Amino acid sequence: MQSSPTPYERLILVCLNERPSGEASCGGRNSKPLAEMLKQAVEEAGKKGRIRVTKTFCLGLCEKGPNVMIYPEGVLLSGVRPEDVPAIVDKYVKSETK
Ligand code: FES
Repeated sequence: MQSSPTPYERLILVCLNERPSGEASCGGRNSKPLAEMLKQAVEEAGKKGRIRVTKTFCLGLCEKGPNVMIYPEGVLLSGVRPEDVPAIVDKYVKSETK
């Protein structure tokens, strides 16, 4: 095993997990477009390679979804809607981490 610093300044984790019908899930609450919007914003901001938007499985907070976690800030955004994306982009994509 090798260990090295992460190549990214920021990780934006978007839960896309889906559960059988009737159970709460981020994917069931239409989180996929959020991930796509965030990925596009990273590209448009010229931050590809510095900020990574990653689609994840369950983050363990299904009832609160759609959930987005952001590092290194360690922020959990819950109940995220498409109309929230511009504010997320302003705060976590366009801003500098270092
Ligand atoms: S399905 Fe997203 S946190 Fe569990």
